Amino acid sequence: MKDQTRTPLFTGLLEHIEKHPTQFHIPGHKQGNAAEPAFRSFLGDNAFKMDLINIEPLDDLHHPNSIIKEAQELAADAFGADYTFFSVQGTSGAIMTMVMSVCSPGDKIIVPRNVHKSVTSAIIFSGAVPVFIHPELDPILGISHGITPRAVKHALEAHPDAKAVLVINPTYFGVAADLESIVEIAHYYEIPVLVDEAHGVHIHFHQSLPLSAMQAGADIAATSVHKLGGSLTQSSVLNLQGNRISHERVQTILSMLTTTSTSYLLMASLDTARKQLATMGHSQINRAIGMANKARKSINELQYIYCTGKEILGTEAAFSFDPTKLIISVKDLGITGYDAEVWLRKTHNIEVELSDLYNVLCIITPGDSEQTIEKLISALQELEKSMLPLSSKNEVKVTIPDIPLLALAPRDAFYSETELIPFSEAAGRISAESIMVYPPGIPIFIPGEIITDENIAYIWKNIDAGLPVQGLQDETLETIRVIKEYKAFN
Ligand SMILES: Cc1ncc(COP(=O)(O)O)c(C=O)c1O
Repeated sequence: MKDQTRTPLFTGLLEHIEKHPTQFHIPGHKQGNAAEPAFRSFLGDNAFKMDLINIEPLDDLHHPNSIIKEAQELAADAFGADYTFFSVQGTSGAIMTMVMSVCSPGDKIIVPRNVHKSVTSAIIFSGAVPVFIHPELDPILGISHGITPRAVKHALEAHPDAKAVLVINPTYFGVAADLESIVEIAHYYEIPVLVDEAHGVHIHFHQSLPLSAMQAGADIAATSVHKLGGSLTQSSVLNLQGNRISHERVQTILSMLTTTSTSYLLMASLDTARKQLATMGHSQINRAIGMANKARKSINELQYIYCTGKEILGTEAAFSFDPTKLIISVKDLGITGYDAEVWLRKTHNIEVELSDLYNVLCIITPGDSEQTIEKLISALQELEKSMLPLSSKNEVKVTIPDIPLLALAPRDAFYSETELIPFSEAAGRISAESIMVYPPGIPIFIPGEIITDENIAYIWKNIDAGLPVQGLQDETLETIRVIKEYKAFN
């Protein structure tokens, strides 16, 4: 192991700032001097001083050869990868890079249907043809879990010419599949496994959490350090190991997709977060697991509110789980997850990670304390008391619509001739747009899929519940862009 206490990028920036160079380069705010005073005073001068650009002494993310290269090498060592690439465009940018590194137009890629919208974008950009695997649905919680090794095997038997398998590990809700077995199957077919590890930066650093992509032998993983690893929002890493994917190709594509004005604040935060994860991650995550389990236990003492625990495991798709995710089911209270989110905001000034029709999701990290945990527990106790008249144990039926059929490759649909039609009359037509509930940003339709009445009804159900349905060009959701159809005699 390299000396993980080092922070070459952060330290290099500090040394550069200490020299007080007279700057005749962008950014034009020049260490904050020309920044708007209220904003400058709130952020503090140091943030502006570190907001630098790729002048020679500070290396270049597009061709790293000094402090950024060293920082990336330390990160690779910490994550057990052969190469780590910093992404200043979140995991979305890293996911697009992964897919475009392995897929050319027309290539098949095996993907779970509950992918993040960045995967759909990557499929459109690359021209790949998705072979969807249906994720396992949890009928009690109304959420999708992972994909099973068996489903991957079937998909590869039917499509042995597929170029890659993409896995979400763990899901937004913290549930992980048997990634090691999936990797074994994909490697038998000599194709790489791409992992969306947006919600799993910390799992590499604690043995009670699911295996990380690199530990499970996957080839490449896009990992949001910013979500659960302590770096600044928008900063992620792309980890690569083995020789199924060329690191030169990954660097080229990442560069094609990345701004030339890469933020040094974001990159320095990746450097320091990596140090913290590698040197103190285990004990900090241990504390977070302890706090989350305490919260889980107290929530489960309530009669109508349930917080998922180990009992969720036992299927191939729910092989292991991350206990720092509190999936709090409120359906037995007779309210939606969104109602609970709004109630917590209005009455207790609590902001949750997300809500859906049945649940709210709260994340517990080393940034929490006994006080924040207590606040959540007592708010939920009050929520139960105040909703008691509505509670309806076992009466709410969880429904999730079937996944629509793909009639056209998403890229072909995206570039086809289209027309706008009323959303209410769209059943049976092929969508040219994506539509999703955000967060978590999982598509209900992607371009190329056949719209069904059941999915339209599901969208209205989410809208009626107040959930954020996004993606349509027409934000009023009155119309949708579909593939143009011509009448036979016209
Ligand atoms: C499953 C999943 N993948 C990818 C992403 C994209 O990550 P980022 O926000 O870092 O671009 C998200 C973001 O919420 C996500 O939930």
